Amino acid sequence: MPHFKSVQGTRDILPKDAMAWRMIERAVSETCERYGYQRIETPLFEETGVFARGVGEGTDIVEKEMYTFKDRSETSLTLQPEGTAGTIRAYIEHGMHTLPQPVKFYYLRTPIFRYERPQKGRYREHHQFGCEALGESDPALDAEMIALLWDIYQRLGARDIVIQLNSIGDRTCRPAYIQALVDYYTPLQDDLCDDCKVRLLKNPLRLLDCKEPRDQPKIAAAPKIADRLCEPCAAHFTAVRELLDAMGLPYTINPLLVRGLDYYTRTVFELAPEQSGRRQSAIGGGGRYDGLVELLGGKPTPGIGFGSGMERAIDLLEQQGVAIPPTPTPQVYIAPLGATARAVASVLAQHLRATDLRVQLGFGERSVKAHMRTANASGARFVALIGADELANDTMTIRDMAASPDAAEDQKQVNVPRSEATIWLKSRLG
Ligand code: HAM
Repeated sequence: MPHFKSVQGTRDILPKDAMAWRMIERAVSETCERYGYQRIETPLFEETGVFARGVGEGTDIVEKEMYTFKDRSETSLTLQPEGTAGTIRAYIEHGMHTLPQPVKFYYLRTPIFRYERPQKGRYREHHQFGCEALGESDPALDAEMIALLWDIYQRLGARDIVIQLNSIGDRTCRPAYIQALVDYYTPLQDDLCDDCKVRLLKNPLRLLDCKEPRDQPKIAAAPKIADRLCEPCAAHFTAVRELLDAMGLPYTINPLLVRGLDYYTRTVFELAPEQSGRRQSAIGGGGRYDGLVELLGGKPTPGIGFGSGMERAIDLLEQQGVAIPPTPTPQVYIAPLGATARAVASVLAQHLRATDLRVQLGFGERSVKAHMRTANASGARFVALIGADELANDTMTIRDMAASPDAAEDQKQVNVPRSEATIWLKSRLG
């Protein structure tokens, strides 16, 4: 017999975790709407070029991590390895540059696919919420974007998290900086780790992101982009920092923060738990991407956004003992005895549900004892029993599962006319 298992690096989201997911979804959608962001959902897959061009040919994502396949008409498609490029494709395709700018989107529980080495906090399918705002280069938008990410985690009750901030310049100042980095690293190349040897050739900015202990002193002494920003980029970065200061948002400048996707310009940021140097602990990251719309075929349009891993958010909240709302339990379990009672019970259940009560129906031919066991496991507050006597006089026997064992018998169990079921239950459930 086949013995199927979920694919390595993927996870089932089971009912026991549903409330944690719902709590995050609610915090994200309510906070985003408060900031004037509107929801967008793009398809799970796009033409491969959207990501290859958008994210950048030299990045780990495009080189090693994309799930790319040909469909039956030989079109090369890719499961989205991030949420930004598809959103930009939609902005261009739907002519949204004609709307009042900036156009502000959020996405939620978006599945993201990356062929990475699976480990805790790093999956081959994960889910992100994220925001993208297009058509505005004002540093106030950068500050708002960072504040929004921060606000979502504050609202969720996360503690001890830090925003790291940097500016990586633009196409005016970055080429000279990259050249300076290459000039600095070239004489050191024999002594670099294998990954860094490749980075030196393909993506020198990522040299700063190396985690190999032996390369750390080289990184510490490397030229820093912050010292080489052109005047407009430096002024933009100063303005972002001043706004964050004025808003009272805590952040630290990390001159080594470069991010793993090619489209970034100027502001980049990450949100991570304090005292964690490991990359897979970032719970969110983003930045400005002023050249991306043009790169994907649109008019020159500035943009900025972030993405945040929902599995990592849940792990963080769990680690920090943040209270997750309890799973709603049935308010009433209906226990019918016999075929006639079952028909009556089905109708009663529908009637009660229509008045917004949470009702679980007991199925099949079961004894009272078996019904009570199921009702108990369901967490229902009341059990409504319908047997031969109740059928005969149009009633039901209601047992209060929350009554103390010492309570008077009429506190534990009463006979109620079925026509009064809603009023009786609602008056007790509050
Ligand atoms: P990213 O930093 O690659 O950025 O991913 C954003 C977040 O997704 C990370 O901070 C992390 O929380 C989560 N994440 C990434 N990879 C994994 C994984 N394999 N398993 C679990 N969680 C993961 C982006 O994707 C950009 N599109 C963000 C952005 C939006 N920049 C501008 N707009």
